[in-house]
Amino acid sequence: MYCTRQNGLWQRKADNWCRSEHFPLHDCNNLYRACKVHLCLTLVSTFHKALNMDSFFIAADTALRTLFAKPRAAKACPTLPEGPSELNDADRRAAAGLMRVNHVGEVCAQALYASQALTTPSPELRKQFNQASADEVDHLAWTAERLHELGARPSILNPLWYAGAFGLGLLAGRMGNAVSLGFVVETEHQVGAHLKSHLDALPTGDHASRAIVAQMYDDEMRHASEAQAAGAVDLPLPVKQMMRAAAKVMTTVAEHV
Ligand SMILES: [Fe+2]
Ligand SMILES: [Fe+2]
Repeated sequence: MYCTRQNGLWQRKADNWCRSEHFPLHDCNNLYRACKVHLCLTLVSTFHKALNMDSFFIAADTALRTLFAKPRAAKACPTLPEGPSELNDADRRAAAGLMRVNHVGEVCAQALYASQALTTPSPELRKQFNQASADEVDHLAWTAERLHELGARPSILNPLWYAGAFGLGLLAGRMGNAVSLGFVVETEHQVGAHLKSHLDALPTGDHASRAIVAQMYDDEMRHASEAQAAGAVDLPLPVKQMMRAAAKVMTTVAEHV
């Protein structure tokens, strides 16, 4: 269909390609090829303008590394001076369930910060999200390592958690920087409250997990403060309640699966 010389703009552009050194022969096949090449270039250019492809590829890379690669922490795993943790089987299982939940939380944190960095038009805010995300990589690595030490595996539903969190982050990001930052503040506060409850729930002798959770709590509170200082709005109560309900489903399932 593209190979008729009466097809308007596309045809004229393709004609120009045909006359260039790329397509020296003026026959129908070359014209058809020129149309296809031009269409591809136009599509790539359109997507680049619409989506900021650099951020898009970074987000895709984050998803693959979070779900399928062994995370590497930039900072050493925190420890407490109490010495090695000695746990019986029941305590080990209880600790593993809680640390699996915390690991899922960090998987979701990667998805949220990646999607919010993808959608913000502000380079400064993107940098802030990426810096917070680097802390979350440390958390991801520490919790993954602790799960391994406890003889447990991460949640098999991690791709699902990641996809859900990524969608929520996209939604928050599309609502503007102030709302996106408000979403960060509320998320980090809810995660902080959750981590605090885990400090009570973890077996008394599990010093290794406690040290990790305590450091994570400090980092999450700092992320919340930084987002607040950057101009976050307070989210409406029903939104906060929906976020709590979603988190409850996730933590309940992830403790076992
Ligand atoms: Fe975290
Ligand atoms: Fe955080």
